[in-house]
Amino acid sequence: MIIPGSDSQEVAASLAAELDESLAAVEYERFADGERLVRVPEAGDRAIVVASTASDAAHVELLQLQDAASARADEVVTVIPYMGYARQDKAFEPGEPISARAMARAISTGTDRVLTINPHEEAVTGFFDVPCSSIDAAGRLAEPLPELSEPLFLSPDSGAIELAEAVRDAYGGGETDYFEKIRHSDTDVEIQPSDATTAGRDVVLIDDIIATGSTMSTAIEQLSDPARVFVTCVHPMLAANARTKLANAGVDAVYGTDTIERAVSAVSVAPSIADAL
Ligand code: R5P
Repeated sequence: MIIPGSDSQEVAASLAAELDESLAAVEYERFADGERLVRVPEAGDRAIVVASTASDAAHVELLQLQDAASARADEVVTVIPYMGYARQDKAFEPGEPISARAMARAISTGTDRVLTINPHEEAVTGFFDVPCSSIDAAGRLAEPLPELSEPLFLSPDSGAIELAEAVRDAYGGGETDYFEKIRHSDTDVEIQPSDATTAGRDVVLIDDIIATGSTMSTAIEQLSDPARVFVTCVHPMLAANARTKLANAGVDAVYGTDTIERAVSAVSVAPSIADAL
């Protein structure tokens, strides 16, 4: 039985179809004081809770879903398509928490195992007190791309070059390269141009997540006379005015997966989750 989080109903429905499993008709309520309540009507022998934690409310709801499901199922598997707080995977300044570890510990209390998609750092899987594996869904990002001319698959930093290679391989050809990124603050990102030439070519920029859009919009502005520019990512957070920033930077299209359900979620990670379950 698939138990969806309220913000992950699309990916949960796709996963239910992939696995030919039932989808629980969970009820979601919100009290006047802001607190939440869920009702899980049935859970089967194995409850598969599918809930991204892209907001604080979604974190709370996931813990509630796990608790309700564990009372009704022999086994609880937790699928977190997008794991929030994963980017705070260390204490960057004295006195800061390792937020990813704190979240992982809480989530571990209500489940037998965890699956998550392209966490920001693979090491976060080690923060869980139950077995946790990551799924690489980057290859799926090639699916919505149109036919490309002299394609260049570019990541905004060296850490994301494997994503660019995965998309290039799934697309079936093209060059890969990366920018050097220097982050001065949350919204101030300096990017130094790559070696590859971009004039007259279709450029596909790839990252694990687009949050404020600063990294990608800065990268687009560094491209010299490209033919078309496509931006794609696993987790399309697109907070605040990120989509507008990308449009104003000159992007031709933005694509993401349904780990975070947005208008740009053009491809589902459900087949990758189904393979891993
Ligand atoms: C950082 O290392 C990540 O891979 C992304 O590049 C970053 O989180 C994107 O954030 P933003 O869209 O706010 O620049």
